[in-house]
Amino acid sequence: MATLVPRTVLITGCSSGIGLAVAVRLAQDPQQRFQVIATMRDLRKKEKLEEAAGPALGKTLSIQRLDVCSDSSVAECMESIPGGRVDVLVNNAGVGHVGPVESISVEEMKRIFETNFFGAVRMIKAVLPDMKRRQSGHIVVISSVMGLQGIVFNDVYAASKFAVEGFCESLAVQLLQFNVFVSMVEPGPVNTDFELKLMEEVSRSEFPGTDPATVRYFKDVYLPASHEIFATLGQSPAAVAEAIVNVIRARRPAFRTQTNSLYTPLVALKYADPSGDLSVRTYYRLLFNYGTLFHLSMAALRCLTCGCFRRRVTPL
Ligand SMILES: NC(=O)c1ccc[n+]([C@@H]2O[C@H](COP(=O)([O-])OP(=O)(O)OC[C@H]3O[C@@H](n4cnc5c(N)ncnc54)[C@H](OP(=O)(O)O)[C@@H]3O)[C@@H](O)[C@H]2O)c1
Repeated sequence: MATLVPRTVLITGCSSGIGLAVAVRLAQDPQQRFQVIATMRDLRKKEKLEEAAGPALGKTLSIQRLDVCSDSSVAECMESIPGGRVDVLVNNAGVGHVGPVESISVEEMKRIFETNFFGAVRMIKAVLPDMKRRQSGHIVVISSVMGLQGIVFNDVYAASKFAVEGFCESLAVQLLQFNVFVSMVEPGPVNTDFELKLMEEVSRSEFPGTDPATVRYFKDVYLPASHEIFATLGQSPAAVAEAIVNVIRARRPAFRTQTNSLYTPLVALKYADPSGDLSVRTYYRLLFNYGTLFHLSMAALRCLTCGCFRRRVTPL
């Protein structure tokens, strides 16, 4: 019987959250089908990953330094990989951003794009020539539902994810010719450090240049609603990792995968009405006009998705 050659999977941003979860999940595959190169920009943060990887560390999982914003760091990491061969690239590294647009400098916006857009592009460019030569490969990008649907006060983050969606959708067509697949994974809210980091940044900002009414909407309407959405609809990083593993294992991987079925109807509004009015107005009304309806829907969802309710309606 032929022995299975493990696929080399390079993952960015593995110090926490989704990146860490997917690295561990693949490295602990019972059939050892994956050789994981888990990367992070700051190796001082590797302890959490080492602990989670357990016996897989040094066998099916190795840790490398890689900053997606640096050409030299990407080149250094690629040179350390035998033959430069990467079968699957998981572009996970990303930074979030929320706030009124008036208070965000163009420099700050460029910083978000440098990681979320150019970081992914830099990685794709690094692995692409070898994948094309070998006529085999899979590029997985952790995008977001905000790569499909803009959300109030997330203007810059959504724009960076829209940019990566446009780039990859164009590339996917060309690469099919070379038997290289591109897959976008689009989570809704996920309970990782991501939201905490955002809230820390928000608590430090005084929103210079923003009018008082906008600051009030942001603080008194958007922030509590966002918190409620994370508490109600938020997935675990392990659940998102499972969805990513399914995409990686698929024989013909889908171009798009939304990981959160509770969030999908909100994104579907956009496709139901090509004029865009339905989604723009529905989001506006839900947030600013029908606050009570919004809170009630969240409470109903919390109840429906709660474990004890599921136990009550699941047949024995
Ligand atoms: N959490 C959500 O609600 C959510 C929803 C949809 C999509 N996503 C996407 O999922 C991905 C992972 O996010 P997460 O939720 O797991 O958040 P997270 O725990 O904050 O993880 C983000 C990771 O990206 C790394 N990173 C940031 N800049 C980097 C750079 N220049 N080079 C290399 N690594 C860098 C971070 O490293 P440091 O520790 O060094 O900062 C961290 O390991 C992101 O692309 C995010 O946009 C998240």
